[in-house]
Amino acid sequence: MSQSDITIRQARPTLDEGLKFASYMNSASNGGFAKLFGKRFEEIISNAYLEPNHDLSYETALFAEVDGTIVGMISGYTAEQYQAFSKDVVKRFAGRSKLRIALIYAMIAPMMRFLHTYDDGDFYVEFLAVDEAQRGQGIGSKLLQALEDRARATQSTQFAIDVAAHNKVARRLYERHGFAMVARWPRTRIVSPNILRMTKPLSLRTQGSTSDAVN
Ligand SMILES: CC(C)(COP(=O)(O)OP(=O)(O)OC[C@H]1O[C@@H](n2cnc3c(N)ncnc32)[C@H](O)[C@@H]1OP(=O)(O)O)[C@@H](O)C(=O)NCCC(=O)NCCS
Repeated sequence: MSQSDITIRQARPTLDEGLKFASYMNSASNGGFAKLFGKRFEEIISNAYLEPNHDLSYETALFAEVDGTIVGMISGYTAEQYQAFSKDVVKRFAGRSKLRIALIYAMIAPMMRFLHTYDDGDFYVEFLAVDEAQRGQGIGSKLLQALEDRARATQSTQFAIDVAAHNKVARRLYERHGFAMVARWPRTRIVSPNILRMTKPLSLRTQGSTSDAVN
C-alpha cells in the first residue's frame, strides 16, 4: 500500500463512528477503558462521542480510511480546549455504571492527574490506534502527521503524548516523529515507570513532515 492510498478525514457524529471510536480508544489503552467502564463501555462512549465540547467528542478525532473503510483513529486537543471542555458528559451517559466509574477513577486519581496535566501551548494526543491487520504500513504515521498539522494550525508550541512504558512499537513511532521522553509515572525512581510523557517542540519538523490536507 502506498501513502496515497490512505485518506485521513475528520470524524463524523454518527453512532457507527462512535462505536469505532470506542474500539480504537480501548485498543490505545490496551483494554483499560473497557475494564474501567464495564460491560456498557461501547454504549457509554459512543453516545458521549456524539456530543460536542469534551475530550471524547467526535470533534477531537480523525479517522484513517483505505478503500473507504476506516482502519485507524487519532484524537487530540489543545491545553486551552481541555480547560474549556465539559467534564460531565460521560457521567451523563454512564447511568447505573456511574458509581463503578467514580470508584475506579478515585483509585487511579494520581495517574489521571499525570495524564491530564498539560502545559500552556501543548497539543495533546489522546488516542492513536490502527486495526491490527493494517499495522506496519504507515497508517499510524499518517494519522500522527495529520494531527500534528492540526496542532500547528492551533498555534500550539508543543505536541505531547503519554505512552505505556512497555509499548515499544508506539515509542519507536513517536521517536521517529521527533518525540522525546520528558517525564515518567510513577515519578519515583524506586519502581519502573508505567507511563512515559513524550513531547515534540512544534518548531521541529521531522522527516515525513509533509502531509496531505485532511479531507
Ligand atoms: C502504535 C500503532 C498505532 C502504530 O500504527 P502503524 O500503522 O502500525 O504505524 P506505522 O505503520 O506508521 O509505523 C509502524 C512501523 O511500520 C513501519 N512502516 C511504516 N510504513 C511502512 C510500510 N509502507 N511498509 C513497511 N513498514 C512500514 C514503520 O517504519 C514502523 O516501524 P518501526 O516500528 O520500526 O518504527 C499501532 O501499532 C497500534 O494501533 N497499536 C495498538 C494501540 C497502541 O499501542 N496505540 C498507541 C498508544 S500510545
